[in-house]
Amino acid sequence: MGMNLGIVILAAGQGTRMKSRRPKVLHRLADRPLLAHVIDTARQLDPRRIVVVYGHAGDQVRAAISDPDIEWVEQAQQLGTGHAVAQAMPCLEGIDRVLVLYGDVPLITADTLRELVARAGDGFGLLSVTLDDPSGYGRVLRDAEGRVSGIVEQKDASPAQLAIREVNTGIMLLPRARLGDWLGRLSNDNAQGEYYLTDVLGMAVADGVPVAVSQPADPMEAEGVNDRLQLAALERALQRRQAERLMRAGLGLRDPARFDLRGRLQHGPDCEIDINVLIEGEVVLGEGVRVGANTVLRDCRVHDGVQILENCVIEQAEIGPGCRVGPFSRLRPGARLLGDNHVGNFVEIKKAEVGPGSKINHLSYVGDSEIGSGVNIGAGTITCNYDGANKHLTRIGDNAFIGSNTALVAPVSVGEDATIGAGSVISKDAPAGELSLTRARQVSISGWQRPKKNK
Ligand code: UD1
Ligand code: CA
Repeated sequence: MGMNLGIVILAAGQGTRMKSRRPKVLHRLADRPLLAHVIDTARQLDPRRIVVVYGHAGDQVRAAISDPDIEWVEQAQQLGTGHAVAQAMPCLEGIDRVLVLYGDVPLITADTLRELVARAGDGFGLLSVTLDDPSGYGRVLRDAEGRVSGIVEQKDASPAQLAIREVNTGIMLLPRARLGDWLGRLSNDNAQGEYYLTDVLGMAVADGVPVAVSQPADPMEAEGVNDRLQLAALERALQRRQAERLMRAGLGLRDPARFDLRGRLQHGPDCEIDINVLIEGEVVLGEGVRVGANTVLRDCRVHDGVQILENCVIEQAEIGPGCRVGPFSRLRPGARLLGDNHVGNFVEIKKAEVGPGSKINHLSYVGDSEIGSGVNIGAGTITCNYDGANKHLTRIGDNAFIGSNTALVAPVSVGEDATIGAGSVISKDAPAGELSLTRARQVSISGWQRPKKNK
């Protein structure tokens, strides 16, 4: 018998308990839809086909998952898990073994599934877990010799069966050659009036098909999302799993319970991340990077030896080697610090390149700019890059010194080694090597009397 694997992901359920207009499988874990997590895991098994059975809000589900190789099957009415798998049968030509996954059970791992597939061979594979509180789940029935004989749903179970703590995770491996026959024989004569996929297990036993049972390393893998409390619990479990993987790879996390990764993080050796840091999208950290508490890093690249102090928000930016950023700095898309820069509190940088060694230490906005090396930008300097209609460029040459509280009205250039006097409004190019300033002369009035309060 061939071993072509097909994977069917059941995702037609409505998820009423989420109390949401969004279909359940599109609720997000680590900022990706639940269903996308399951598809990622399915792919790791190299199946011939991945079929998703959708139903409720199918257009939204299909629009959110754009993977071109997924096959979609509609289950217009949710008549049960057995009925759902039956809808996928026409897509399973040439498949020998069918692995059933749930779109709302996102933490299942490829290792667990590989073990299930390996144990089951060309027989029947069941993934079960043993729970302290089995309520709500289908119970796994075993005969006197301990061999699995069937599954009974909670609502159909006798009091003795309800005491069984081994439950069906819902994840099963089924031999396709038999499956069509079994599904055809399902009835909905049960407490819920549904076609239960679980009933095929009893048929497999009756047909003498060997049943292999395996269990996941961590029971959390089999946990489903039915409401927002479970979603939040699985988010924590996923974050914990990611944090552990990163720490094993050498990342220093002050507190793995206060670290969130919603995307991918690459890091060199000896990086240290303080508490409450959120990493989103694609983030790359070089060697020896330190990230201070309460910082957000989104789609950015941070080079060797960078120190990011507390409370920074960094998005689509690049921070060159040896820079010190923060506390309270904001780097927006297109900010590029070329190296050894200091960017301090309440500094916002957008679409600007800052040359090596230049410093912007306090209270500045630098946008649409090219800044050379060794430049010092004084506190309160603003590039006035926007005239209400268009954005304009500010250029500052190497070693220029911009005095505090300067407004640079773009388009404008400041030459190399130029000095700008504090408080200036610079709207014409400032020549290299000279002092430019726009400032009313200071006057002092001798004998001036300060007003006094009337008695
Ligand atoms: C099912 C199992 C139960 C198991 C439990 C694990 C059956 C009859 N029961 O029960 O033994 O312990 O899962 O969580 O299989 N779905 C469809 N179409 C349908 C019905 C369901 O696509 O017509 C999908 C749902 O979206 C969900 C999954 O199948 O992803 C399971 O459905 P759900 O209604 O949650 O099954 P349970 O009653 O929890
Ligand atoms: Ca369920």
